[in-house]
Amino acid sequence: MTLWAGRFSASMDETLWNLSESFSFDQVLYAHDIQGSMAHVEGLAAAGLVTSDECATLLSTLETIRAEFDAGTFERGRSDEDVHMAIERRATELAGDVGAKIHTARSRNDQVATTLRLFTRDAITEIARGTLDLMSTLVRVGQENAATYLPGYTHLQRAQPVLLTHHLQAHVWSLARDVERLLDARRRTNVSPLGAGALAGTSLPIDPALTARILGFDAAFANSMDAVSDRDFVAEALFDVALLGVHLSRMGEELVLWTTSEFNFATLGDDFTTGSSMLPQKKNSDVAELARAKCGRLVGNLTGLLVTLKGLPLSYNRDLQEDKEPLFDSVKQVLLVLAALGGAYRSMTFHADVAARAADDQLLVAIDIAERLVGGGMPFRRAHEVAGALVGRAIREGRSLADVVKDELDVPEFAELFVPGTSLAQRRSPGASGPEAASRQSDLLDARISELRGEL
Ligand code: ARG
Repeated sequence: MTLWAGRFSASMDETLWNLSESFSFDQVLYAHDIQGSMAHVEGLAAAGLVTSDECATLLSTLETIRAEFDAGTFERGRSDEDVHMAIERRATELAGDVGAKIHTARSRNDQVATTLRLFTRDAITEIARGTLDLMSTLVRVGQENAATYLPGYTHLQRAQPVLLTHHLQAHVWSLARDVERLLDARRRTNVSPLGAGALAGTSLPIDPALTARILGFDAAFANSMDAVSDRDFVAEALFDVALLGVHLSRMGEELVLWTTSEFNFATLGDDFTTGSSMLPQKKNSDVAELARAKCGRLVGNLTGLLVTLKGLPLSYNRDLQEDKEPLFDSVKQVLLVLAALGGAYRSMTFHADVAARAADDQLLVAIDIAERLVGGGMPFRRAHEVAGALVGRAIREGRSLADVVKDELDVPEFAELFVPGTSLAQRRSPGASGPEAASRQSDLLDARISELRGEL
């Protein structure tokens, strides 16, 4: 029998049951639902709606139920539509009439919103922590390869040499913004809907501010209808995870490229690569491909939820039940990627010699020649033309650029530009890729990372 059987004369059709039950996926919310119910029970006691003995019974009953879930022994009842009803049904089973008081002054609408906010708050913290761990890994890999440099690319064409640490830190800065966004979303998530009831509050003397405080929320809702219908916090979390996923997919793509025989800038450890069922020589970077691929469903989960929310009338609608699977999926998948990608970077051997050979491509010195000419007073556009003409000539005549420069501008200072590593050392403007600028940047980044860790 369902909890609302009083009003109905026929039981629910099986097809509707199959469509509407959510226990199969929302049982993962049990701990947060129990946390919310415990605060609610304390609120009921403070309001005199249950006695202190009843409060103690309800709290210990909820503890028992949590232990059953933890141990995997919780048995779903035939009419348990979702995790919230399952817990209430079990509480009544264990504590009789006292258990039947647990839902006083509460609706599943404010209950589910509370539970989901508690879940999302923790999930955001966990994802932010995982992201910070990946950031620290990238910084460390950079430090361990401090002198290593590679070509920096634009349009995926070699552009200028960059330090590996600078390159990896470019990713770290984008991940830092992801963490900032997540922590910002967590602030808006951290508002309690408990006490809003079905949509309009209650005539019973409850105090939403009290339960908000017990649950560690920054505040209680101001408007009961907004409280039960707002899922902005889910949409925001999904967006933040989707954009984080976009960043992780770009890193994945880069690892795929670096580990090809064509680039050969890096090799992943055997423990982070997979073989082929047919081709004995294969060593595949599946970890990087999956980091690239998971982004698709992260973006899909966000768009799916936004479409679900669009056009919903106030206040609670059953459509809102569809917020859960995308959220659970995005949280799970992004945590998997963060952990595995961090491991992949830690397992990586970077082939400094191969990357340096590519970065010491003489054509990449063209901009340094132009900038030297500018230093001598030549307008940049003219200097660009001169350097471009030298490059054109080297290519047409099949000669090295150093050779052509020696012929045309026989000045020792220009010859020195072709000494490997020189071009890189010259990149010293703020935020640039050369060693001096990179070490200033590392200090900034270290400070940012510890600041963000402090906010977890
Ligand atoms: N499982 C439901 C959800 O996730 C619980 C709320 C149901 N509320 C209701 N009034 N039918 O949204």
